[in-house]
Amino acid sequence: MQLRIGSASPALKSRRPKAKILWTFELSAVYYPHRGSKIRIMVQTQQEMKLKGFLLAVLVLILPNIFFGSEPIAVYLTWVDDPASTMVVQWVEPESEKRSSALYLKQGEGIWLNVPCQATVLHGANAVLKRVFLQKLHPDTDYVFCLSSDIEHTKKYRFKTMPKQLFRSVRFVVGGDAYYHYDLFRKMNGVVAHLSPDFVVLGGDIAYAARHGSSLKQADWEWRRWKTFLKSWSEQMIDENGRLIPLVVAIGNHDTNGSYRMLMNEKKKPSLFFTFFPFNESFTTYRELMFGDYLALFLLDTGHVHTIDQQQTAWLKSALKESARFPYKMAIYHRPAYGAYGNYNSRKAMLIRTTWSPLFERYGLQVAFEHHNHVYSRSKPIKGGKIDAQGVLYLGEGAWGVSPRKPLTPKEVFYIEKSAQINSVYLVTIGQKDCHIFAIDNQGAIFDKAPPLFSR
Ligand SMILES: [Fe+2]
Repeated sequence: MQLRIGSASPALKSRRPKAKILWTFELSAVYYPHRGSKIRIMVQTQQEMKLKGFLLAVLVLILPNIFFGSEPIAVYLTWVDDPASTMVVQWVEPESEKRSSALYLKQGEGIWLNVPCQATVLHGANAVLKRVFLQKLHPDTDYVFCLSSDIEHTKKYRFKTMPKQLFRSVRFVVGGDAYYHYDLFRKMNGVVAHLSPDFVVLGGDIAYAARHGSSLKQADWEWRRWKTFLKSWSEQMIDENGRLIPLVVAIGNHDTNGSYRMLMNEKKKPSLFFTFFPFNESFTTYRELMFGDYLALFLLDTGHVHTIDQQQTAWLKSALKESARFPYKMAIYHRPAYGAYGNYNSRKAMLIRTTWSPLFERYGLQVAFEHHNHVYSRSKPIKGGKIDAQGVLYLGEGAWGVSPRKPLTPKEVFYIEKSAQINSVYLVTIGQKDCHIFAIDNQGAIFDKAPPLFSR
């Protein structure tokens, strides 16, 4: 097989000396179906040095796809169960791809295990979400996985399970209101990946793909928002050792179109949030993730699918009670109880303060991460609605990839310790003695820190 590329145009030829062969590229197509055949590409004019570069790029980008299948649109990790012994591996790929499983092994060992995937067709997107649940993993251990049985030639990915005990510090990032502005979203992603956290928690409004004037948008608008989010996440959320950083989510108002009853009765179509993130029970958007013997993380729903009170509050009470053994207990949810943007007297803020806050205080929760308002704010410790050194810290409020707003100040609101108009996330470090929380801006600078937290 021979491909010959000539000079660009007759006019060009007339101005130039006779063309000569400057570059020849030969490739043994050992993996191509026509095994043993050769591809020869010849560039014949001096003028076309740029074309040579272009062709090289084509070879690098296209040929691997012909031989091995194209890379997925996105590959990302999450958890629904024990982060020390499980991992959910997910990828989005074009419908034309036929991957049917993932293979994984403990780093340094030689036996690949094959796990068949579940597939969910993304209607109208010409794409499929595929998912495998890896179980019985070893804690605090590096794993390698790939998405093709042609192991030698396919891309390898890495992840690490969480430790069961605090033999080492555990670090994670909390933020929210992530992909609104593309540039701001990616800028913060870069900062967060550089911090190399064990995992990231997003507290809602993840891709702004629902309830954002979406009825006026093109039919595939929701999919395109998620596609951009997942592509960026997949590309950027890799630490310097090549480890993919798992993502855990709580739901926000821009993540769903309907309440639990509407979704269960099929009166509303579930948003893609429910496609891209698994839940143990359908549309049950509040849950607890338990990390070893050191951290209970409560991911709550501030009235987007489930009401704040009633069933969710009853569940929260029993979950907190059963988690008394954990030295650190933290909640992450979307709408704030103690916000710095003027919604202190909103119905939902009052409901959180009257239903959840007393439970937080009673069962020793140290900190609640709040979002939604696109400001930075850190509260004083609060108990019974008053400042109390034994109280709960409320840290907010959702400024990952949005334009930050001007917050209320400590002079204006009694419970605010510090506020700022700044893009920010929190870096949480839990060690054997205490827990430190730093606020990081999208330049990667620490601009605030919470008082150290101790086990309760
Ligand atoms: Fe929101």
